[in-house]
Amino acid sequence: MNADALKRESARRALDYVKPGMKLGLGTGSTAAHFVDLLAEKMRGGLRIVGVPTSEATRRQAEGLGIPLTTLDETPELDLTVDGADELDAALSLIKGGGGALLREKIVASASREMIVVADESKAVAALGRFPLPVEVVDFGLEATRRAIMAVSAEAGCRGELKVRKRADGHVFVTDQGHVILDAHFGRIPDAAALARGLAQVPGVVEHGLFIGLATRAILAGSEGIRVIERP
Ligand code: A5P
Repeated sequence: MNADALKRESARRALDYVKPGMKLGLGTGSTAAHFVDLLAEKMRGGLRIVGVPTSEATRRQAEGLGIPLTTLDETPELDLTVDGADELDAALSLIKGGGGALLREKIVASASREMIVVADESKAVAALGRFPLPVEVVDFGLEATRRAIMAVSAEAGCRGELKVRKRADGHVFVTDQGHVILDAHFGRIPDAAALARGLAQVPGVVEHGLFIGLATRAILAGSEGIRVIERP
């Protein structure tokens, strides 16, 4: 099975946790897109849920599939969010934001009683950080913010380049909330909680891609089958 087929299998298994009447957070990325697609298929069979999308891309997909949507203003408490991840460790700490939607993703996951991560096995790592950590920042004072991030990161034992994310056409990538992203190439993050605390102190940082204590379960699809991990 190729990686995309594994992602779809993981997404398919997540449907087992969706119950009629649930208020669902709908994640962003290629794996979450499979989930939204399969959810719509199940809804054609009679399942009724309402969703809150974590990005404009997911909103467009869900609307196109006829999934009823709401907002966190109308529906501030959700039952379950299903989303992908760029990396996850054994404690279900995550790096997210490879698709640039980390801010809305974190707000939606935080408003949910449960968060299920759907992924193929390649996303499971012993220590977070091989995937560059996305940090969403305001563009005002970007260089000063970049230096402040370097300083708090060094205190948490992380060193590496911080690169402004660009689109394929060379223009600076702008998030759904109008911010820019610095991708932090740390290699290995020795203490994700300490780094998260440090990043939260920097005024120009809007949010970062470390999701700690949010995911309750991960469904990992590999060539050997599906593995479900629950947060210890
Ligand atoms: C979007 O901002 C990300 O957090 C995605 O959830 C993450 O990048 C995983 O995406 P894939 O499922 O496409 O690997």
